[in-house]
Amino acid sequence: MKTIGVVGCGLMGRGIVEVSAASGYQVVVREINSDLLDGGLKAIRQSVDRAVAKGKRSEEEGEALTSRIVGTTDLAELAACDLVIEAIVEDLDAKTALYSELENHLSPAAILASNTSSLTVTQLAASTQRPDRFIGIHFFNPVPVMKLVEIVTTLMVDPNTVTRVSDYVESLGKRSIECKDNSGFIVNRLLVPYLLDAIRAYENGFGSLEDIDEGMKLGCGHPMGPFVLLDFIGLDTIYNIAEIMFDEYRETRFAPPPLLKQMVQAGHLGRKSGRGFYDYG
Ligand code: 3HC
Repeated sequence: MKTIGVVGCGLMGRGIVEVSAASGYQVVVREINSDLLDGGLKAIRQSVDRAVAKGKRSEEEGEALTSRIVGTTDLAELAACDLVIEAIVEDLDAKTALYSELENHLSPAAILASNTSSLTVTQLAASTQRPDRFIGIHFFNPVPVMKLVEIVTTLMVDPNTVTRVSDYVESLGKRSIECKDNSGFIVNRLLVPYLLDAIRAYENGFGSLEDIDEGMKLGCGHPMGPFVLLDFIGLDTIYNIAEIMFDEYRETRFAPPPLLKQMVQAGHLGRKSGRGFYDYG
């Protein structure tokens, strides 16, 4: 693989662009309009500049990395990509509509992947003309830091696709684990009920936000307590994931608690909106 395409330059997409370009790949990233594209590319440049300022990369490496990234609003510019990773909004219709337009431009051999966190990869793959070359590649936030990538396989995927994608993930310096297709895969299937349970514990008056966070940080060695992590991931993101997982499994442990729904409705989305369980004012 030489050229990686990324569709979506939001939090996850821009991280995938950065780590791919850092590992020597040419990267084409597509956003739906120039405002979103410029914002995403600016965030990548800031992240690279921070790494240079901290001495993690030389200035030349930083420049070489950014020179390997091309931004576009035109899907046709992804035509030369060997692997295209979709990292757009977690919405089935939006994803399948994108694939049907994108496949008009991709080479027949290109692999198409989704960074979905909760939709089943099977339903995404089945909507394309290349289910044997369709796979889940699930990165974790913050992408430049988190070592894990879940590779999600379906009944339809070609083993050669899995091998090529595993090689790509390894070339990024990350560790991959292979997951059979199930909503939430391995990590979110365990993490999401834990985060929802933390909200229920708080709703039921078990303890303050700070004490529940301290409990899990100091008692279990987690880098962040559940409420700091919820605010970090984004409450709207967790709410959407929980809704999708509840819909899939019909188990109450995946059901979003009322407080989470109310916070999303109130626009308290976590760090990105300045307020979530904590105030970032
Ligand atoms: N981008 C790039 N680098 C970042 C970063 C970011 N957004 N945030 C932190 N870093 C880097 C820092 O530069 C620093 O690197 P250095 O030590 O080489 O200078 C390193 O990470 C540690 O950062 P800090 O010292 O500022 O802060 P912490 O020690 O508190 O670490 C953290 C920050 C890495 C985010 C850590 O708190 C952590 O691991 N938290 C848990 C994150 C987690 O669980 N992520 C998974 C979320 S679930 C998910 O993504 C799945 C999805 O489907 C919902």
